[in-house]
Amino acid sequence: MKSIPLHGVGIGLRSPHTPLFLKSPPKSVDWIEVISENFFPLPGESLDDSEPLRNLLKIRSDLPISLHGVSLSLGSTDDLSKSYLSILRELVRQVDPWMISDHLCWTGVDGLNTHDLLPLPYTAESIQHVAERILRVQDFLGRSIAIENLSSYVTFANSEMQEWEFLSEISQRTDCGILLDVNNIFVSSINHGFDPLEYLDSIPPDRIVEIHLAGHSRKEGCIVDTHDAPICTEVWDLYRTCLRKVGPRNVMIERDARIPEWPEMERELLQLRGIYEAR
Ligand SMILES: [Fe+2]
Repeated sequence: MKSIPLHGVGIGLRSPHTPLFLKSPPKSVDWIEVISENFFPLPGESLDDSEPLRNLLKIRSDLPISLHGVSLSLGSTDDLSKSYLSILRELVRQVDPWMISDHLCWTGVDGLNTHDLLPLPYTAESIQHVAERILRVQDFLGRSIAIENLSSYVTFANSEMQEWEFLSEISQRTDCGILLDVNNIFVSSINHGFDPLEYLDSIPPDRIVEIHLAGHSRKEGCIVDTHDAPICTEVWDLYRTCLRKVGPRNVMIERDARIPEWPEMERELLQLRGIYEAR
C-alpha cells in the first residue's frame, strides 16, 4: 500500500461551517473530509455547474481534502453503478483528495437506495464478493480506496468470523486501506457484546490510513450512531489506546446533526489535538 501523508487533525466539513472556511480556514484544522455525494451534480447538470464544488476547490487551495462516500454500496449484489463511478472519478480528478473512502456495507438492492449503511454477513463468500468489487473500483479510479467499519445493530446468524477478521482480510486481499471509526467500534461493541480492545488488537496497524471519531446516542437496549453529540469519555479512551497501539494517523471528528456553532466545534477539535500531539 502506498504511504499516506500525515496531515494531522481534521474535521468533517458540513454546510453550517463552510462560509467560515471559505473566508479563512481556522488554524485548528489541518485537513477536511467532505461527503463525496454532496458535490455530485443534479440530474441534467455537470460537475462544472456545481457551486458547492467551486467552493470546495477554493478551500482546497488551503487544506488537504479527503472524499468520503456513502453510496458506493460495495456489498450489494446490484452491479456497481457506472454513472456513480464516472462522476466520482471526475470529482477525484478535480479535487485531488489525499484519500477516497466509503463503507464496508451495502445500501440497497434491486435499484433501491435505502440511504442506510447496512451490515454484511461475515462469510468467505462475502469477502470474495466485496473484494472483487473493491478491486474493480480501484481499477476504475486508478488508485486505492479505504473502507470504513460500520456501527451496526444486527448481526447475521450465518457469519463465520468476527467483523475485525472480515475487515482485515478484505483489506489485505485488495490492498485497500482501513478507515477505522473508533466510535463505530465502541457502538457495535456495546450492541453486540464484544471487547473493543480485541477489535483494536486484531486490525493490522499498517493498513489503517485514517481514523474517525464521533458522538452517539444511548437508546433503550442499544447505542445508535447518530453523530449528533460530543465524543464520549469511553470513545476518547479507546482513541488514546488506538493512538498508542497504531501510532499517529490522520484523525477527524464527524458531526452530522445538532451541529454546534464553530467555537464549540473547535473546542472538541482542540481536545482531539491535545491528545494527538501528546502521543
Ligand atoms: Fe465514520
